Amino acid sequence: MPAPLHVIILAAGQGTRMKSARPKVLHEIAGRAMLGHVIDAAQQLAPAGIHVVVGHGGEMVRAWARDHVAGVPLHWAEQAEQLGTAHAVQQAMPQIPDAAQVLILYGDVPLVRAATLAALIEAGRRTLALLTVELTDPAGYGRILRNRGRAITAIVEDKDATARQRAIREVNTGLMSVPAKRLRGWLARVKNRNAKGEYYLTDIVGMAVKAGLKVVAASAVPDEVEGANDRAQLARLERLYQARQASALLADGLALADPARFDLRGQLTHGRDVFVDVGCVLEGTVVLGEGVHIGPYCVLRDVTLGAGTRVHAHSVLEGCTAGADCVIGPFARVRPTTQLADGSHVGNFVEIKNAQLGAGTKANHLAYVGDATIGSRTNIGAGVITCNYDGANKHRTTIGDDVFVGSDTQLVAPVAVGDGATIGAGSTITRDVPGGGLTIARAREQKTLASWKRPRKGAG
Ligand code: UD1
Ligand code: CA
Repeated sequence: MPAPLHVIILAAGQGTRMKSARPKVLHEIAGRAMLGHVIDAAQQLAPAGIHVVVGHGGEMVRAWARDHVAGVPLHWAEQAEQLGTAHAVQQAMPQIPDAAQVLILYGDVPLVRAATLAALIEAGRRTLALLTVELTDPAGYGRILRNRGRAITAIVEDKDATARQRAIREVNTGLMSVPAKRLRGWLARVKNRNAKGEYYLTDIVGMAVKAGLKVVAASAVPDEVEGANDRAQLARLERLYQARQASALLADGLALADPARFDLRGQLTHGRDVFVDVGCVLEGTVVLGEGVHIGPYCVLRDVTLGAGTRVHAHSVLEGCTAGADCVIGPFARVRPTTQLADGSHVGNFVEIKNAQLGAGTKANHLAYVGDATIGSRTNIGAGVITCNYDGANKHRTTIGDDVFVGSDTQLVAPVAVGDGATIGAGSTITRDVPGGGLTIARAREQKTLASWKRPRKGAG
C-alpha cells in the first residue's frame, strides 16, 4: 500500500504584476481559473486530500471554489503574511498525517500534466524529489546544484547565487514530492537568513542531503511548468494550452482550418469528419455530430449539433441543440433552450430564443422568434417577429405544421396558428389563426390617391 497522497497547492501570492483586483490564481486559462487547472491535475492523482494555501484575496478564492470545484472537498489553510514558500507549506501541515506522501504544487503553474506529477510522486516515495527543467534562460529561478558525481546538493535562489551558479541551466520548478514526516521535521528548521528574508522551501534540499538522503530529480518539459506572473505570461500560457488541445483534437480526427486560430474553453466531443474554420470560440460543453461544418468566426457555448449540420460564418449559438442536417447562419443568433429539429434552417440576422423549430422548418431572413413552438415544414418569412413581451410578462406563440407566415408579420403572443394556415405579409396577428385558409390583418386595404401631392419645403 503506497502512502496516501496529500497535495498542497500554494496560492497565497497577490500577483501584483497582474494589476488586477482578482487574486492571481483566479486569472483564467481557457476560461478556467489557473487554480482550477491545478486542482484538476491534482484530482487525477486520486489524492486523499487537497490543501490550498491562500492569503491575498483568500475569501474570493474560496468563493470561486464553491462554484467551480466539484467532486473533491478542499482543505483550506490561511497564510496571512507571505513569509516564503516554506512558511506557506507549513500552514497546511497540521492537517496532514505523518504517514502521507506530500506533493507541492503552485496555483500559478497551471499547465502541469498529471502524468508528470505521477512520476514525481513515485520518485519521492522514500526521499525528496524535485521537478526540474533545463532552461536556455534560467534567470529568476532557483538553480539546482550538483556535485562531481552529479548528485543534487542544494538549490540556490537567483538572488543568492554567485555568477558561476547563475550560469547553471537546470532550475527548480518549485514542484516537489516528499514523505510528510520528513518534510515536517525539515520545515521546523528552515531559517530566513537570505537575500529576500524569506523562509525558503528550497532550504530543505540541503537538510535532506545532510540526513544522508539522495535527493532526486524528475524532469518536465519547460512548457508545462511555466508560471504566470503577469498578463503577457498568462497570454503565453493560454496559447500553449490551446496548442496542446488543438494537437490532441487533430490527432483525434477533428479538422481545424488553423490550429493557431481555434479556442476551446471547455469540452468538445466530435464525430468523424467535423470541420471547424478559423477564429471560432467553443465554450462549455460542445458536442458536434459526424460531418458537422462550422464556418469562420462562430461562437458556440454549450451546444449540441446533429450529424451534417452546417453553421455558417459569424453565428453565435448558446445553450441550444440542433438535429441533423440543419443550416444555421451566416450571422444567426441562437439563444438558450432553443431546439432545432432535423433539416431546419435559421438564416442571416435571425434571432431565436427559447423556441422549438420542427423538422424542415425555415426562418431564413431577419426574424425574431422567441418563446415559440413551431411545427414541421413551416416557413417563417423575412422580418417576422414574435411579440413575446408585453412589458411585464413573456407569452408563447404556437405555430403548427406547414404554415406560411408572410414577411413582416407580427405575432402578438399569446397566440396560436393552426396547421396549414397562410398569413399575409405585413399582418399584425393578435388573435388565434385557424388552420388552412389565408389570414390577413393589415391596418387598411391598399389604395392609391392620384390627387395627392408631396409636401414641399417652405410651402407653409
Ligand atoms: C520559487 C522557488 C525557486 C523556483 C521558483 C519557480 C523558493 C524559495 N524558490 O521562487 O527555487 O525556481 O519558485 O517558479 O521556493 N507563495 C505563497 N506564499 C509565500 C510565498 C510564495 O503562497 O509566502 C506562492 C506564490 O504565490 C507562488 C509560489 O508560492 O505561487 C512561488 O512563490 P514565488 O515567490 O513566486 O517564488 P520564487 O521566488 O519565484
Ligand atoms: Ca515565481
